[in-house]
Amino acid sequence: MTELSKSGAAVGEPVKDSPAPSAFLEVRDLKVHFPTDDGLVKSVDGLSFTLEKGKTLGIVGESGSGKSVTSLGIMGLHTTGQYGKRKAQISGEIWLDGTELLTADPDHVRKLRGREMAMIFQDPLSALHPYYTIGQQIVEAYRIHHKVDKKTARRRAVEMLDRVGIPQPDKRVDSYPHEFSGGMRQRAMIAMSLVNNPELLIADEPTTALDVTVQAQILDLIRDLQKEFGSAVIVITHDLGVVAELSDDILVMYGGRCIERGPAEKVFYEPKHPYTWGLLGSMPRLDREQTERLIPVKGSPPSLINLPTGCAFNPRCAYADVPKDNVTRTVRPELAQVGGRHWAACHMTQEQRERIWTEEIAPKL
Ligand SMILES: Nc1ncnc2c1ncn2[C@@H]1O[C@H](COP(=O)(O)OP(=O)(O)OP(=O)(O)O)[C@@H](O)[C@H]1O
Ligand code: SF4
Ligand SMILES: [Mg+2]
Repeated sequence: MTELSKSGAAVGEPVKDSPAPSAFLEVRDLKVHFPTDDGLVKSVDGLSFTLEKGKTLGIVGESGSGKSVTSLGIMGLHTTGQYGKRKAQISGEIWLDGTELLTADPDHVRKLRGREMAMIFQDPLSALHPYYTIGQQIVEAYRIHHKVDKKTARRRAVEMLDRVGIPQPDKRVDSYPHEFSGGMRQRAMIAMSLVNNPELLIADEPTTALDVTVQAQILDLIRDLQKEFGSAVIVITHDLGVVAELSDDILVMYGGRCIERGPAEKVFYEPKHPYTWGLLGSMPRLDREQTERLIPVKGSPPSLINLPTGCAFNPRCAYADVPKDNVTRTVRPELAQVGGRHWAACHMTQEQRERIWTEEIAPKL
């Protein structure tokens, strides 16, 4: 029996070239590249992970690290969005419940979208149509997959709005998106995403635009609904604290690649990659003074057209000179196992990492 099946864990080392994955969702070597006038933007460049039903995977990383493109790729929506319909190059494998989505008939993928997999978008206004009421949009989403009359579908819409905590749902069902506050719109979108009880839910930064109280409510809501429906959930955020609390496993992205992944408590309490250390240091914490709250990771995110050679993090890494022979600037580190079900892509030895973590990083956190 593998480590993965023993623990029933959400993230494991995917078995390359094995045609029949046992995991509910298995992403293998996913690449999403966009040709642009300046060159090829490698937004996602070789990402692999697995996720089981009933489990939550948190994907975390700075702005531009490829989190949204990953989720759009899984949903088959990578050619839409802010950059128009520019042709994206996508490769790898995305297995959802035994079906490989990249080679599946697009009509079939369209049917799965909404019914088996749904997404809560970063910006609810872009996902909700301004000219239709919230109710009409939920009804439409429901009727695509269920042969029911409008009255039944409307009852379902009211029920979903109630479920996500919209007051007076039988009245608010006839409101237009602009009549809702940001938090209410986010709830309405969650209601729309969940109307068909999807087995995979991707929540892309579901809380960024919301105040702290509403954020907490939305996250609680996702957790409750997951318990109820047993769905697999991917929560995407740049806040390690949010995913640590919500997730079974965490995957940290940098420059379109995974640089660390493992069980949430391991990645959060015993992280092994200097970038994850940086994310921990930049996390807002209640027990810190406002002034000392945010220490962003120094430097800027890498260009996805020309990633730095060697370790993509080396220009920003305080420990780039620790591994010998300048290897961090010449050889790209592969993900290597650093503990049970825990991987990190860094050239430092276990001893070097442990020493820096215990002596320099942990005392400051
Ligand atoms: N259609 C496209 N054409 C060219 N570049 C694109 C396209 N879509 C995304 N990108 C680029 O891919 C990179 C990753 O974008 P993505 O939206 O996945 O980042 P993100 O991690 O979700 O960031 P954020 O936290 O800001 O939401 C960005 O540099 C973005 O500019
Ligand atoms: S490989 Fe080198 S540069 Fe990259 S994270 Fe590790 S120590 Fe830093
Ligand atoms: Mg995004």
